[in-house]
Amino acid sequence: MNKLFIAGNWKMNLLLKESQELILRIDHGIRPLNLENIEVITAPSMVNLVPVSMQIVTLKSDIKLSAQNMHFEEKGAFTGEASPAQLKSIATKYVILGHSERRYIFGESDEFINKKVHAALKEDMRPILCIGETLEERESGKTYDILQRQIRRGLDGVSQQDLGEIVIAYEPVWAIGTGVSATPEMAAETHDMIRKYIYESFGENSMNIPLLYGGSMNEKNAEDLLRQHNINGGLIGGSSLKAGSFLNIIKTARTILDEKKTS
Ligand code: PGA
Repeated sequence: MNKLFIAGNWKMNLLLKESQELILRIDHGIRPLNLENIEVITAPSMVNLVPVSMQIVTLKSDIKLSAQNMHFEEKGAFTGEASPAQLKSIATKYVILGHSERRYIFGESDEFINKKVHAALKEDMRPILCIGETLEERESGKTYDILQRQIRRGLDGVSQQDLGEIVIAYEPVWAIGTGVSATPEMAAETHDMIRKYIYESFGENSMNIPLLYGGSMNEKNAEDLLRQHNINGGLIGGSSLKAGSFLNIIKTARTILDEKKTS
C-alpha cells in the first residue's frame, strides 16, 4: 500500500482555543507540502469537534476529522453519548473505535465495539479499529491470539465491500503514553502477522485495510516505524499535541513515499 495515514489522537486534551490554534498550525504546516497519498487526520475531544469541524471547512483544509468514540444506537436515552448520524452531520470522516482506554477504563467488549464498527459504516464513516495486547499478554505469549480475537470479533459481519473502509490501528497497550514504543522490528513482525491474518480471513479485499501503528510514536522513531512494509501510518497521541512534532511526522511520511516512488 503506497499511502500513509498520519492520525493525531488528542484524547481528553486541549481547550477550545488550544485546539483551534493547533489546527491552524497544522493546516499552515501542511499547505506547502505535497499530500498525495498522505491522509492527515485529527481527532479532537468530543466537545471540540463541532468548532474544529467548522474551522476545517472555513480554512478549506486537507485535515480530515475523526471522533474518538461514539455510540452505536441511532438515537435515544443514552446520556453523554453521541450517535453516528450526529457525528456524520458535522463532517466527521473517521471514528476511533475500541481504543484500549475505552476497552480497559470504560469496559468496552469486542461485541460492543463490533456494533459501533457496523454503525459507523452505515453512516459512511471509516472506523479506526484499535487492537493491542497488554504487557502481561505479550509476556505470556498470547499476543497473536489476543489480536486475532480482537480483529475477528471486531470485524465480524463486515461485508467484502466495506472492508475497504476499515482502518486497523495496532496499539500495544504497554506502549501507549509510556514513552516506550515497540521497536520497529517488533512492530513490523506484529503488523506482518496482522496482514497475513486478515488476508487469510477476509481475502484479497483486506489488502485495502491500512494498518497503523500506535504507542509512543514520535518525530524521532516515526521514520523507522513508517518504513516497515506493513506499517501504513501512525495513530499518535502525545506527539500529536504539538504542531511541530506532528508536522515532522507528516514530513517523514512524505520523504518515505517520495523515496519509494524513485526506487
Ligand atoms: P501515545 O498514544 O502516542 O501517547 O502513546 C497513542 C494512542 O493511544 O492512540
